[in-house]
Amino acid sequence: MKGGFLILDFGSQYTQLIARRLREFGVYSEIQAYNYEIEDIKSSNFEGIILSGGPNSVGAEGAPFRDVNELLEIAPVLGICYGMQLLSKSLGGMVEPSDLSEYGLNRITWSKRISPDIEREQKVWMSHGDVVKLPPPGFEVVAQSSSGHAAAIQSERAWGFQFHPEVTHTEKGDDLLRAFVFGCCNAEATWDSQQMKATLTDYILSKLGKTEHVLCGLSGGVDSTVVATLLTRTMGKDKVHCVFVNNGLLRKNEFEEVMKNYEDLGLNVRGVDASEKFLHELKNVSDPEKKRKIIGKQFIEVFKDSIWKIEKEEKIKIHYLAQGTLYPDVIESVSIHGSSVTIKSHHNVGGLPEDLNLKLVEPLRLLFKDEVRALGETLGIPGRLLWRHPFPGPGLAIRIIGPITEEDIKILQEADYIFRDELVKHDIYDDIWQAFAVLLPVRTVGVQGDNRTYSKTLALRAVTSQDGMTADWFEFSPSFLKTVSNRITNEVKAINRVVYDITSKPPGTIEWE
Ligand code: XMP
Repeated sequence: MKGGFLILDFGSQYTQLIARRLREFGVYSEIQAYNYEIEDIKSSNFEGIILSGGPNSVGAEGAPFRDVNELLEIAPVLGICYGMQLLSKSLGGMVEPSDLSEYGLNRITWSKRISPDIEREQKVWMSHGDVVKLPPPGFEVVAQSSSGHAAAIQSERAWGFQFHPEVTHTEKGDDLLRAFVFGCCNAEATWDSQQMKATLTDYILSKLGKTEHVLCGLSGGVDSTVVATLLTRTMGKDKVHCVFVNNGLLRKNEFEEVMKNYEDLGLNVRGVDASEKFLHELKNVSDPEKKRKIIGKQFIEVFKDSIWKIEKEEKIKIHYLAQGTLYPDVIESVSIHGSSVTIKSHHNVGGLPEDLNLKLVEPLRLLFKDEVRALGETLGIPGRLLWRHPFPGPGLAIRIIGPITEEDIKILQEADYIFRDELVKHDIYDDIWQAFAVLLPVRTVGVQGDNRTYSKTLALRAVTSQDGMTADWFEFSPSFLKTVSNRITNEVKAINRVVYDITSKPPGTIEWE
């Protein structure tokens, strides 16, 4: 990808947010470690460079450093927090520890209008101990903090903000970033789903050409669906071999429905029913991590077997495995905190490439989740597939607490179906990040008709979240909960009690196992 913005990471916890903001403006942005090779920067045609914040003091020994003059020869530079201090130090200004650290919200005063949308007084989010005592030659201080320190400095081609415009606590932070991107750098908003498609298509063709065969493990979720569709449209149906596994732990009717969706999308997909094998291996297993390991291993087995069959039947060789890695995972590997590529193994239904002896292709590696959905729309994938709630690879196995039996799977499938059916009927499915039912190993006394019962307890879980890392429980109306509880206890005989989980994450997790 040529053009766009380079964000050099000096270790701030907000670096990813800077990239996100720019993408939201329709501008391509990528994050690299602070010491990214100058030759690579030169050859990439960046329109602007942003230096992130960071936890260090620029004066400290071993603090990450960069010659900003070198960068300015390539494109305009914006330094944020540590980035502004580094920019100042590198260009001949003076940075000193301050006797008054500024943390949290601060009111700054602009002496120059850098954007028509910005008022003279503005609330911003700060978090720094050092201050720029003297800006570099050619710079002016254009905003001051309430304690009289330089809050923003500016020259023709370089800007510095001592605060964080990328965090939502900063009032009109977006307008400030826009002023730099579109005002100072004259960038154009060209990063849209068409552009994404073109860029990723180039990536696929440069990596695989048109002759390689690739295996694509499908999970029914948005990422693998978009990966498979994009690959198929780029390389042709005969080169992209999709496998969707029924592990016996899917939701009610899911295998048939998802297979139909894939066929409608024109994918070359094999549905493999391995449920008997999965359930056999899981017999009497209670420990959640053991369940995960067994399921992961079984997936690999099915994929190995599928590769063998496809290669034999079609007389071809498969060298590549497609994975739905997204940009936040890639960032972990390039950021200053990162080490090697971090793949969340439990999020990989397709199995890891080393187990399958295949090379990896990651067509979505430049995209954030919302961009994957936008690309999916451009590829003509229906909204009901793009906006599905996440569903874990181990499926219902981690929603039946304790050992798994076929009978319990059926009970849970029915109850879960009713819950989700009501969410759709009440038009709240899309307000929720994830909603599901959990079957508990708890029997309680009840009364159904004239009879005493001693039956199972079901927990309902519904959360809102941005990324699954933290979550809040969803506030249903009492009448909604009543409807769902009535339906479940009436329609699913084995359940006589329904409870609603009101735990946030943290301290809870989203799943119960
Ligand atoms: P937790 O329970 O860790 O879940 O708060 C966060 C998100 O991850 C999903 N999850 C999994 N996904 N394999 C997966 O593919 C797993 O083993 C797994 N465990 C949790 C969970 O559904 C939620 O979206």
